[in-house]
Amino acid sequence: MNKIRAAITGVGGYVPDYILTNKELETMVDTNDEWITSRTGIKERRILKGEHQGVSVMAIAAVKEMLQKTKVDPKEIDLIIFATITADMTFPATANIVATAVGATNAFSYDLAAACSGFLFGLSTGASFIESGKYKKVIVIGGDKMSAILDYTDRTTCIIFGDGAGCVLLEPTTEELGVMDSILKSDGSGESYLHMKAGGSRIPATHDSVDKHQHYVYQEGSAVFKFAVYNMADVSAQIAERNHLTANDIQWLVPHQANKRIIDATAARVGITEDRVMMNIARYGNTTAGTIPLLLWDYEKQLKKGDNLILAAFGGGFTWGAIYVKWAYNS
Ligand code: UT7
Repeated sequence: MNKIRAAITGVGGYVPDYILTNKELETMVDTNDEWITSRTGIKERRILKGEHQGVSVMAIAAVKEMLQKTKVDPKEIDLIIFATITADMTFPATANIVATAVGATNAFSYDLAAACSGFLFGLSTGASFIESGKYKKVIVIGGDKMSAILDYTDRTTCIIFGDGAGCVLLEPTTEELGVMDSILKSDGSGESYLHMKAGGSRIPATHDSVDKHQHYVYQEGSAVFKFAVYNMADVSAQIAERNHLTANDIQWLVPHQANKRIIDATAARVGITEDRVMMNIARYGNTTAGTIPLLLWDYEKQLKKGDNLILAAFGGGFTWGAIYVKWAYNS
């Protein structure tokens, strides 16, 4: 009998309506459109406005859209994995909130935190549940409300990130399609370069932690940049090589959207021309765990059954990785 693989059989996405442009950021911090565009490739990002609006709002909208498109009954969903570092609350898991809101009453659900690589870690985990033969319908969500943890007086971080969420449905197939291979990596020594200091068990929230701006993203940008360029390109090349894929065999590179210069370096290393690199960084910025599913959502109509995709990411942790996916359907 052929091996059971996890095929992506549906995609959903959601970005909030509010558009924060580079021009508006110019009125908030000492920056300019030319600097942001040339250093990052970002023109605008979406922001989830309103009181008590957590990341679940975007995830619920993305999952509902996908269930509607695929005509899948939410009661058939076995598992929901939500990759996020901006959960609605520390507990319960936001995946539980999403599952109940979409009517996935027979699913178990949990969150997974791997920052910008979160969707890849979630996809690989979700695929393993399908490959076990025990589970038939798994939803993997990647999304973040980065605006909740950004210091809008810090020009080095607030210009990069945005809010958004995307998701995929995984189902079993015995065809040579779906999640074919993955390489996932973590290195805890990256903690000092990219983190949020307070709000966890090491430094719980106090007046002092708030005064010191410790509930915001801290990033040493140029150090992270160097690690990202090297590792994301390297792991993408590795997964292509070990699956005997030449540049011509790869229809799409699906890279985490952190910085256009990192994306370009990864594409150059794998030998893929820009027309085969999915990109929406100009419109959404870096939505952390949301970038890769939002790319699949934006490009879904251009994808054909049998297309070879290399998904690649690098982010906080450090975490990084690449997944080889053979696309399973025509829209
Ligand atoms: O997704 C998670 C992983 N994160 C990443 O992959 C992000 C990786 N890092 C980056 O994308 C880039 O390092 C940044 C976009 C964050 C920064 O770009 P950079 O080219 O590395 O700039 P830099 O930090 O080396 O700063 C260069 C200059 C500095 O001024 P001086 O010291 O040369 O006078 C900064 O103060 O640019 C200045 N600068 C700004 N100027 C205008 C920093 N931020 C801004 C800004 N507007 N927003």
